[in-house]
This record gives sequence, structure tokens and C-alpha cells, in this order.
Amino acid sequence: MPDLLSLRDLALRTARSVAPELARRAGGSLNTKTKSSTTDLVTDADLWSESRIAELLHDARPDDAIQCEEGTTVTGTTGIRWVVDPIDGTTNFVYGHPGFSVSIGAELDGEPAIGVILDPILGDEFAAALGHGATRNGTGITVSGATVLSEALVATGFGYQPDRRRRQAEGLVEILPRVRDIRRMGGAALDLASVACGRVDAFFERGLAPWDIAAGVVIVREAGGRVCDLSEGSPTGDLVVAAPEGILSELLFLLRSSGADRT
Ligand code: IPD
Ligand code: CA
Repeated sequence: MPDLLSLRDLALRTARSVAPELARRAGGSLNTKTKSSTTDLVTDADLWSESRIAELLHDARPDDAIQCEEGTTVTGTTGIRWVVDPIDGTTNFVYGHPGFSVSIGAELDGEPAIGVILDPILGDEFAAALGHGATRNGTGITVSGATVLSEALVATGFGYQPDRRRRQAEGLVEILPRVRDIRRMGGAALDLASVACGRVDAFFERGLAPWDIAAGVVIVREAGGRVCDLSEGSPTGDLVVAAPEGILSELLFLLRSSGADRT
């Protein structure tokens, strides 16, 4: 069994090595291109961050697998796979808006085991290792004690395809009157970190990629929360729901009845 705390600390050191430069470049003059749609952005800073993170992880652990959002892939032999979003929340980053992060997760034999999410603007460091709890800037965190969905602050996010956005907006018509309020801050990694520290009560989003959630899943679970799909199975690109146990059933029921499985 690898030493999970030393893997977590490697992820922390690695994310710290790019965060100050990302804070400096946020909202500045960037070379920006589009990917899957005109709203799906990638910048030269995403590519720089990815190559530096992949290089540091590979130097430290040359036999681990690595998968990064912008295409860097390394095969491995150790059972550990790093899953990296070099900038989650690129739209926020381009505007210099808080709500982007560096997200580094690791799976051990396919199970989420390490999560580190750094917020370069607010300076928050969220970190967790399986069985060792979750922290924000070194202090233990837990999800909120919410027990009633109508009193819950719920974060969500929207995909990049116009048709999906239309259906997500239609679902919100049913959800918004039944919760305390909705937050669309992004990116998904920080939304999950927000659930973990009780800064929001819950989060759901359809259409997320593995690198958006790899770190956040571990941090929420280690903070005492649940992360699942609509059937309480493992979260997938179809739907990711993160919530304290006290409101999970009510939230899943509302998401099913609002057609979240169709969005
Ligand atoms: C996006 C952000 C955003 C979420 C999108 C993601 P990216 O990731 O997490 O908040 O709503 O679904 O794709 O593209 O900025 O890495
Ligand atoms: Ca990204």
C-alpha cells in the first residue's frame, strides 16, 4: 500500500508550483482558443500549467499513470493514476474572476484516493487522502449539517453545448423554488470543495469529465459527504451529485422529478 499522505503532499507541492503564476496571469492578456463549442475555452496558461504538473508528477513517480484534461497521457504500472485539471474554471480564469482552481486527483487501483484543489485567487488549499480526512489550509473540514432541502444552498454548473444548457435551465425552473438558492460560481472542482467545507450545502452537474471531479470526490467523501449519480452509484459524466447524507435523498428525488436524467 503506497503512503497516501506522501502522495497527497506531492500533489500539494505540485499544485503550489503553478498556482502563483496562474493568479498573476488571470484576467490578463492570454492566447485563448475554443474547444468543443464557442463557450469552451483553453488558454496558453492551461497548457503551461498542464505540462509543468505532468512533468513534476512524472519526475517524482515515473511509473504512475497520468491523465490530464488537455491531452497529456502517461501509462503506468503502479496502480496509481493521477487525474489532472490544470485549470478548472477556465472561463473564470480568462475574466480574472474567482472560481478557478488547479485540481489534482489520484486513483489507487481505480478507486479515488487523493484530492488536492488549490484556489490561486483566494489562496485556499483543499486536500484529502483516503482514510485521513479532508483539510482546508491544514485545518479539518466537514460538510454542512443540512437536513432540509428547502433550506439548502445548492451549487450547479452548465455544460458547453447550447441544447444541454437549454435543458439545464428548464430543470432549474423546478429546482430553484424548492431550495434556499442556487449558486453558479464554478468551476466544478471548487464547487465540490465548497460542499466539503460547508460553503454551500450541495452540488449537482451533468456532463462533467473525470478531471473535473477526481480530486473533489475524495475531498467531499473525506469531509463526511456523499458523491454519487442519480441512482446512488459512482458519479459519472451523466450526473454528479454531492451532498451531506441529511439532504441527499430529498435532492436525488428532486433531480429525478426535474428531469436531471434527461439533461
Ligand atoms: C468546466 C468548469 C465549469 C463546469 C463545466 C466544466 P473547465 O471545466 O468546471 O464550472 O460547469 O462543466 O467543464 O472546462 O473550465 O476545465
Ligand atoms: Ca480545465
